[in-house]
Parts: sequence; structure tokens; C-alpha cells
Amino acid sequence: MTGATPDVAASPSEPTGTGPGRAPDARLVVENVTVEYRTRKGTVHAVTDVSLDVPRGTTLALVGESGCGKSSLGRAMLQLPRPTSGRVMVDGTDLCSLSGAALKRARKSIQMVFQDPVSSLNPRRRVRDIVAEGLEIQGIEGDGAELRRRVDAAMEAVGLDPASAGDRRPAEFSGGQCQRIALARALVLEPEVLVCDEPVSALDVSVQAQILNLLEDMKARYRLTMVFISHDLSVVHNIADRVAVMYLGTVCEVADTTALYRAPAHPYTMLLLSSAPTLGGTLADTLGETPIAATSSELPSPLNPPSGCRFRTRCPRATAICTTDRPQLVDIAPGHQVACHHPLEENR
Ligand SMILES: Nc1ncnc2c1ncn2[C@@H]1O[C@H](COP(=O)(O)OP(=O)(O)O)[C@@H](O)[C@H]1O
Ligand SMILES: [Mg+2]
Repeated sequence: MTGATPDVAASPSEPTGTGPGRAPDARLVVENVTVEYRTRKGTVHAVTDVSLDVPRGTTLALVGESGCGKSSLGRAMLQLPRPTSGRVMVDGTDLCSLSGAALKRARKSIQMVFQDPVSSLNPRRRVRDIVAEGLEIQGIEGDGAELRRRVDAAMEAVGLDPASAGDRRPAEFSGGQCQRIALARALVLEPEVLVCDEPVSALDVSVQAQILNLLEDMKARYRLTMVFISHDLSVVHNIADRVAVMYLGTVCEVADTTALYRAPAHPYTMLLLSSAPTLGGTLADTLGETPIAATSSELPSPLNPPSGCRFRTRCPRATAICTTDRPQLVDIAPGHQVACHHPLEENR
């Protein structure tokens, strides 16, 4: 798929929009991003008009069921591929307006870690060469000593011993170790933004905690701005500062993590929370007061999404307006936005 490139020149001083809750010091700004795939069956509306921002040094979690567009949005942030429309700004530079060498240079500042560490690593290359890939692409080969120093530092930062691990190949490592290699490969470029797409979903539960702790360490150490994608709300609870809940290509609620878990306002968020079994007491209290059940468990097709609110076909609170009007994200409390005609007021 090749998307349209918005005809806008990057300008660091340009205001980055006036959407609800716009953070003054946002490092990553996603503006009206739409991702569509043209297939033989028709157009897949994977992401529709999503706007988000992530302040410097914070982590935004993107959560929602499988197929709701999380990976498409994450990849669009890196221009892999370019979104069909919209803008993605890193520190004021619109990546969607860049191409060729300028895009390659700008990509250095935003890196991605994928769900399946094993398949995301080239099995034939040595770990040291895999970690060095990004530097080579950026032309930072310089003298060999500098390259080696940076690769060693990145490996050490993620808990891999360069001397013993550097000359081995991915197949000799466990899933958790491979995810460390993938993280070293991303961090070696000293990115400002790191997009982690379900980075622990393919790992054993015992290893998940180690990688989550490592990501938290990296975030503090490098002052990373992170987007952490997960289908599981219980995974993002500790790592995310803010959470954006996605449903069928749209964002239905964004809030600080504590507020979202304590006082979810969108019926879909409530549904997601009630199906996350391991969240413990805080959540049980909330749900005790406002039980909610979907009227249908069937996820509509992104080939033909419902009119108006995309959640309306499963929503117990839906009324006529939900069929005709797409709800916009609006502030319901400081830093808390919801796109719903009938939010759960009783939680606040
Ligand atoms: N390359 C593609 N071509 C066609 N459809 C795609 C492609 N990638 C993803 N999709 C579809 O787009 C929708 C969103 O997918 P995805 O972004 O992978 O969601 P998630 O990461 O939340 O599971 C799904 O319906 C998926 O089948
Ligand atoms: Mg995905």
C-alpha cells in the first residue's frame, strides 16, 4: 500500500494542532492519522482519523482487541508504511512530509521493537552485526572502534555480555534474550521515541516481567518517549503513564493510567477492564458498581465498519445518535478524553 503524502512542509516552530488535551511539550504527535489497506475484498479501514500525543519521557499504552489497528498505527508512526493520510511529528518534524535521505535521517529518532523477537532478527547474522544494523544503515560505520563501542554499550545496557554473546546467532538464544537483542538494536541509535509492539506477548510469563522491568529501566535511563502496544490491559498497568484505548480503528478513550483503571468512562474500556482477569482489587471495586456486558461478542469487520460510533453494535448503552454521529474525543476531566455519546458518568 502506498499512502498519500500530505503536502505539508516540516516546520519545527509550527503549532502542532489544538486537539483536546494537547500536551505542550509533546515529543510525538499523531495527527488525524488514517491507515487503509486496499485488498481484493475492498478497503480495510485499519486506523481512522486518530490523533494522539506523547509528552517527552512518558509512555503511552495503546490497548485494544486483536485487529483493532494497534500495529497499523504503530507502524504508521515509523512510516512503515506511510499512513494513508495524517501527520506524525517527532519533535516538530512531520515524518510524513519527508522522503529519501531526509526520512532515513529522521527515522533514527524513532525505532520499533516487534512482538516476535525471533522472526524479527536475521537468523544468519551474528548478534553483534544485528545490533550494528541500524548504525550501518545510518552510515555511522565511522572507524570500527566507534561502532564497536556503541554496539557493546547497547548490548551491556540490555544485560547481554558483548564478549560472550556478540559472535553467536539468534537461534542460540531464548525468546527473552532475543527480545533483549532487538531492544539493543533499537537503542543503539539513541532514539527519542521507541514504539514497542506487544514486546512481551510472545514470551513466557516469568520472562515478561524481566523485559518489562528492562524497558522501564531503559525509559528512565535514556529519557525515552515510548508507545507501548498491548492487547492486555494488565500488562500496561505499571509501565504506562497514559493509556489510549482503541476499538476498530478509532481511539475511544485516553487517560492517565490511574484514572483509566479507576474511572473508565467508555463502555468499551469498561468491557476490556472486566475481561482482564489479573488486575486485582482496585478494579474489582469499580466493576462492582458498574457491571457491563457487551450485547454482542462479534467484532464487526474493518472492511465495513459501523456508521457513527464504531462500538455501537456491541454497546449496551447505544441509542439512535450513536448510529448517525461519530463521537469525537472530548475532555471529561483534566487529561481524560472520551469519545462516547453516553459515557459512564457514575464513575466520577
Ligand atoms: N497489510 C495488510 N493488508 C490488509 N489488511 C491488513 C494488513 N495489515 C493489517 N490488516 C488488517 O487491518 C486491521 C488492523 O490490523 P492490525 O493493525 O494488525 O491490528 P492489531 O495490531 O490491533 O491486531 C485488521 O483487520 C487486519 O486484518
Ligand atoms: Mg498487532
